[in-house]
Amino acid sequence: MADSSDALVFFGATGDLAHKKIFPALMAMVKRGHLNVPIIGVAKAGWSLDQLRVRARDSLEAQGGIDAAAFDKLASLLRYVDGDYKDPATFDLLRRALGSAERPLHYLAIPSSLFSTVVGELGRSGCARGGRVVAEKPFGRDLASAQALNRSLLAVFAQPSVFRIDHYLGKEPVQNLLYFRFSNSFLEPIWNRNYIDSVQITMAESFGIEDRGSFYEQTGAVRDVIENHLLEVTACLAMDAPSSGRPETLRDGRTRVLQAIAPIDPKNVVRGQFRGYRDEPGVATDSRVETFAAVQLQIDNPRWAGVPFYIRAGKCLPVTCTEVLVELKAPPDVAFSETIARPNYLRFRLEPDVAIAMGVRSKTPGEAMVGREIELLATQGTGDEMGAYERLLGDAMKGDAMLFASEDTVEAQWRIVAPILASAIPPYEYEPGTWGPVEADRLIDRRRGWHKPQAAPLRGPS
Ligand code: BG6
Repeated sequence: MADSSDALVFFGATGDLAHKKIFPALMAMVKRGHLNVPIIGVAKAGWSLDQLRVRARDSLEAQGGIDAAAFDKLASLLRYVDGDYKDPATFDLLRRALGSAERPLHYLAIPSSLFSTVVGELGRSGCARGGRVVAEKPFGRDLASAQALNRSLLAVFAQPSVFRIDHYLGKEPVQNLLYFRFSNSFLEPIWNRNYIDSVQITMAESFGIEDRGSFYEQTGAVRDVIENHLLEVTACLAMDAPSSGRPETLRDGRTRVLQAIAPIDPKNVVRGQFRGYRDEPGVATDSRVETFAAVQLQIDNPRWAGVPFYIRAGKCLPVTCTEVLVELKAPPDVAFSETIARPNYLRFRLEPDVAIAMGVRSKTPGEAMVGREIELLATQGTGDEMGAYERLLGDAMKGDAMLFASEDTVEAQWRIVAPILASAIPPYEYEPGTWGPVEADRLIDRRRGWHKPQAAPLRGPS
């Protein structure tokens, strides 16, 4: 393994992502003894280092609490460079703040429209020398911009030093999708078009856009979570077994299956916008940006041909929960005189708690050969597991790219969503607290309907 990074620079230090995810990840890394190098925040806010420390404290208090010793250590490692990303002087200051560091990790927690400027300046100022770069998602706005970004990044950093982050890949239950699939021998024989009827992935969030109006206006649900997080989940569910545990084979497996997904036909998408979205700060009063999207996609390979994959994601839905429902084909109703309403299924609950469930039928006690549906459920507490950002920043510091998206992956993802990025049809309005516009029902087989995950973990599909 390559040498570990000897400084961590994060751009966007005063922003929303730093507040929500990065400071908690940094404190966790420090607490675990995994981070003991200068940590340099960069932003243009006119702040001092003390103000950044106050912000870090505030973030940690809001996101689950402070460990006093770890916070003191984090505060002592923290540095701050204030300046405009377009101003070369900012990067000269950064070069000085890096001191004797020879292998800095630069984390771009900023909009991708700024990546090229920042990376160019990192190169010019000498800050990139010996370093690595982590680029936050969404990586570009479409295929052409992603390709241009890749060129800018690779003009300054070598390919193995570029890390495209998708924090869903750092989540334990997402990694467990792969582990569960490939370490249980009963699954592989049925994991294909002969036995599987359909796959649904639901990412529901009960909250809205949380003061991120201007970001969301540039993004929308497809670019925010479908193009990246939910296509990565799809890849984990659908890829072929890797031939070894080497990082490249896992990455290649995910990429290959994404490359087999046809670009989504616009007739297979329904977009929605929650009522009230246009009143949010930073949102245009006539905005057509979607806060909900339901899509159907097809994987054109021998394993999956003809099996519909349904993805649904939205803000202001009834619950906050991400679940996968894999429904099997129904057995013929010749053996017993009952009609089976719901065939077997596997349910993977990825957020906010972790569960794997299997829906099966069992005979109801009595004389008749009739049964009922039961769910075999295994749940898992969160324990002391690493959060996704802690895991991924730690991996990037070590130069381990297994859980990052490759250039080919990102390009395949943009190709899949390309036809649905610019829609002439305005999104359908839906009431906050509902499952999105009723128009989405036309996408899905009426016998099945959309899966509606429950807030309480111990409940099966509705
Ligand atoms: C982010 C999106 O990438 O993922 C957010 O920008 C979304 O809109 C978030 O809320 C969900 O991730 P998590 O890990 O907080 O469930």
